[in-house]
Amino acid sequence: MTAASSSSSTAPKRPATVRIRHLFEAKAQGRPFSMLTAYDQFSAQVFEAAGIEVLLIGDSVGSTVLGHETTTATTHQDMLTFTGAVARSVRRPLIVADLAFGSYEAGPVDAVRHGVELVRAGAQMIKLEGGTPVTPQVSALVAAGIPVMGHLGFTPQSVNALSGHRVQGRDDHAADQLLRDARALQEAGASAVVLELVPAALASRITAELDIPTVGIGAGPGCDGQVLVWQDMAGLSDFRGKFVKAFADLRGDLQRAAEQYRSEVESRSYPGPEHSFE
Ligand code: KIV
Repeated sequence: MTAASSSSSTAPKRPATVRIRHLFEAKAQGRPFSMLTAYDQFSAQVFEAAGIEVLLIGDSVGSTVLGHETTTATTHQDMLTFTGAVARSVRRPLIVADLAFGSYEAGPVDAVRHGVELVRAGAQMIKLEGGTPVTPQVSALVAAGIPVMGHLGFTPQSVNALSGHRVQGRDDHAADQLLRDARALQEAGASAVVLELVPAALASRITAELDIPTVGIGAGPGCDGQVLVWQDMAGLSDFRGKFVKAFADLRGDLQRAAEQYRSEVESRSYPGPEHSFE
């Protein structure tokens, strides 16, 4: 038996289209799955080709693409535009989109109205931030047929209330509250939950206690899946938080390419005859 045939017989079968049930299967099998943010056609297609199972059109688009300082500036219209761009560009990954700050806090009616619009734009699952206080919104979305991903720990839309980017759930009281919130989201019908900036041991405990998959960002290796903002993962942004690993140097590569282009334009070596028409 060749190495290729032996590895293909043991490798888990990849679904042609990733569905929520595949995330539950991954959890049951103890097989970690990967999620990345995506906001545009080319990045989404590259991540699909790389086998990334879940694409998140995060409200981080406000700070990674639109030049805002925090995600609180991202609007529902921004989310519709970028969700549509990604959803039209790929077939296999599960498409998750964020409800923007201000589009669901007032109650279930707002949450469902904006959730429906995101589904119409191409989202297959909606993510919203918060625990017990947003369970009525979660239940209403689920009742409307819209799958929900929760988001606990550091919740970027509450950056002001949380006094900046800080690890959450460090003391016993906060850890218990996080666990209660995770259970409440599950009971309200959420199908998955992101755990952001949570001590690794607590994230592992929550993952073990929940039936639904957890997706960690700065929450250690014990979550069922992992997520990163793609520009951090690829070294395009200059954010180097402790939890980030840059798997490439896209910033350096792109800058070198642009410098080479400028230099060839200035020396008239580009465009050459091969790039010119008779
Ligand atoms: O908006 C986003 O990119 C997110 C991830 C950090 C999970 O919510």
